[in-house]
Amino acid sequence: MPSTVQSPSQLPSDLPPDKLAFVDRALAERQQTQRWRSLQSITPLDAVRVLKNGQKLLNFSSNDYLGLSKHPALIAAAQDYTARYGAGSTASRLVTGTYDIHQQLEEKLAIACGREAALLFNSGFQANVSLLASLLDSRSLVLCDRLIHNSLIQGILASQARFIRYAHNDLNHLEKLLHQAGDYSRVVIVTETVFSMDGDRSDVATLVNLAEKHNAILYLDDAHALGVLGQDGMGLAAHQEGADIAVGTFGKAFGAFGAFVTCSHKLKDYFVNCCGGFIYTTALPPAVIGAIAAALELMPTLEPERQYLTQLADYLRTQLHQLGYDTAGSDSQIVPLMVGDAGKTLRLGQWLEEQGILAIAIRPPTVAEGTSRIRLALSSQHQREQINRLVNAIGEWHE
Ligand SMILES: Cc1ncc(COP(=O)(O)O)c(C=O)c1O
Repeated sequence: MPSTVQSPSQLPSDLPPDKLAFVDRALAERQQTQRWRSLQSITPLDAVRVLKNGQKLLNFSSNDYLGLSKHPALIAAAQDYTARYGAGSTASRLVTGTYDIHQQLEEKLAIACGREAALLFNSGFQANVSLLASLLDSRSLVLCDRLIHNSLIQGILASQARFIRYAHNDLNHLEKLLHQAGDYSRVVIVTETVFSMDGDRSDVATLVNLAEKHNAILYLDDAHALGVLGQDGMGLAAHQEGADIAVGTFGKAFGAFGAFVTCSHKLKDYFVNCCGGFIYTTALPPAVIGAIAAALELMPTLEPERQYLTQLADYLRTQLHQLGYDTAGSDSQIVPLMVGDAGKTLRLGQWLEEQGILAIAIRPPTVAEGTSRIRLALSSQHQREQINRLVNAIGEWHE
């Protein structure tokens, strides 16, 4: 009996094209250019050790810079707030999702940062995208550092504002662009205080001066300085009156989750009324608020940990330089081990994993072509002996 199933050659040629062909093309391109990414499951053991595929690994890729994600005070507060307030906040902040714990935390954050007001957000990504989208319009000009985080770029793109990137940390270039700025509804300077992939810092005092001189709005992302740098660890944007908008995130040194912005009372009112990423989302859950509140209380007591972390990073940089590696402009707990080629960086990451060390390769498009690196992120819970183990493993690697 003849088959009723048509072979591909017999199929009518006017079939619509595969609607997901773009997915195949994008994935093939990622594979061909060493940019393929996949999810790797791990189980955390403590602040610096994880279990992966049954193997214990020393973790040099987490942003838990103070080891607070495993701190008993944060865990106890998360449990306590859950027991008292429930597992979820049940609504957005402007409906019935503002509990006393949200407001108390915002008041404490504003005081700790020496600013008029603070407003919680559900993540740093959400904060950056939606704050910038609400601040800018298509007649605004954004002057941003070439290396800013993707969340900031997404916010700028969403606003349809004109944007120009200044050379990384080159404030002379920024000043030239400020001088040339023509007729815009407003000019906003956007940068990070500690750069997430390079670990270098921006010159906040000069940025504040430039913004004031040119009547520009200054927007600082303090994600990687919060908890680690500044007065009582509250970041490099804290206590800087001229930093109009400063974003901090709680998923890194605070060991929890979420984000906040500090600003004036007036800007806070503006965001509460006009920022979609604040308005149209369920409020952070009580467990998270508890963990953040506990971390905030600990912050002033963690100066010895911060100093130790700084020494550890200095030590690591010195050791890597002795091996002949470049660490870019790193001046923080983030130490990039610059490799260049994406494939080579992946192979080094694989080698380190075989030596019991988790150190993730960072490749384009996260970083520029030819600047792939192992991003080493230190924690105050790392021991010097563990740094030596890392350095020895890197030193023994040969292609
Ligand atoms: C500079 C910077 N801003 C914002 C974010 C996003 O923060 P979150 O992880 O809370 O979404 C990150 C995290 O990757 C970051 O590195």
